[in-house]
Amino acid sequence: MYQLLPPSNRSRQVDLAEVYAYPTGARRWVRANMVATVDGAATASGKSEGISGEADKRIFGVLRALADVVLVGAGTVRAEQYRPTRVREQYQAARAAAGQAPTAAVAVVSRAMDLDWTMSLFTSPAVPTIVLTATDAPQAQVDAATEAGAEVIAAGTGDVDLALAVDRLAERGLGRILCEGGPHLLAQLAAAGKMDELCLSMAPQLRGGDSMRILAGPDLTDGLPLILHSLLTEDGFLFARYLVGGPHGSVAGPGMEG
Ligand SMILES: NC(=O)c1ccc[n+]([C@@H]2O[C@H](COP(=O)([O-])OP(=O)(O)OC[C@H]3O[C@@H](n4cnc5c(N)ncnc54)[C@H](OP(=O)(O)O)[C@@H]3O)[C@@H](O)[C@H]2O)c1
Repeated sequence: MYQLLPPSNRSRQVDLAEVYAYPTGARRWVRANMVATVDGAATASGKSEGISGEADKRIFGVLRALADVVLVGAGTVRAEQYRPTRVREQYQAARAAAGQAPTAAVAVVSRAMDLDWTMSLFTSPAVPTIVLTATDAPQAQVDAATEAGAEVIAAGTGDVDLALAVDRLAERGLGRILCEGGPHLLAQLAAAGKMDELCLSMAPQLRGGDSMRILAGPDLTDGLPLILHSLLTEDGFLFARYLVGGPHGSVAGPGMEG
């Protein structure tokens, strides 16, 4: 893997944990991580597997290892048969020093709560899975989730209020949030002004068709400006780390209080 931006010595091994470190002292920071083809497709036959690659998966793993919690939409959990995050030995010392649990919890956003509660994501994670739902969620599903071992947190009525959901996670000490999509959830997060950063893997392929883009939702008024923070490459993939700027974003660069 090479670092293209900021310019770096090409022979130097890229330290992904360093490149993607959360801002020092940030009490809450919402990072999104998505992969898309050059023509913007975020899915291939209903999944992201066909557009991901080896280096992309490596970065995916590092971003999980740095996070307190993985925030994901129920659509992605169903499509990708989500599993719990893994406890990875090599990150234990750093996580303990940062006051983090051995691995990131997963927080699933769902209104309907029509999920398979027998999935290992709910029954046997190393850190209990959270379900973020609305105050008027179906009680039978809330009970089923709780019985399976998940922690149910209500944030908002009707739909989950994502700004409130982020607050609820941060209040629990889960302020380093990694949103893994999907596009419907990410669009709402961006619209709510709650996205601080986008890590985008661009896969060297074209898909055509009508696959979803990384955001599926209403127009973002005036667009959401992004500031390119770093750019890596391997096997023709480009790995960009953007900070959200402008009126929605904090423009709090890594290293600043957030
Ligand atoms: N390219 C990538 O990096 C990437 C990343 C992730 C996913 N994907 C792909 O994207 C597809 C899935 O994405 P998607 O956009 O259809 O689904 P999604 O965003 O993962 O999930 C949508 C679901 O999340 C829940 N939800 C979202 N916002 C909510 C709110 N404000 N309040 C309550 N519930 C809310 C709802 O669940 P309920 O229906 O349960 O109420 C909704 O149906 C899959 O094909 C997956 O493979 C690609």
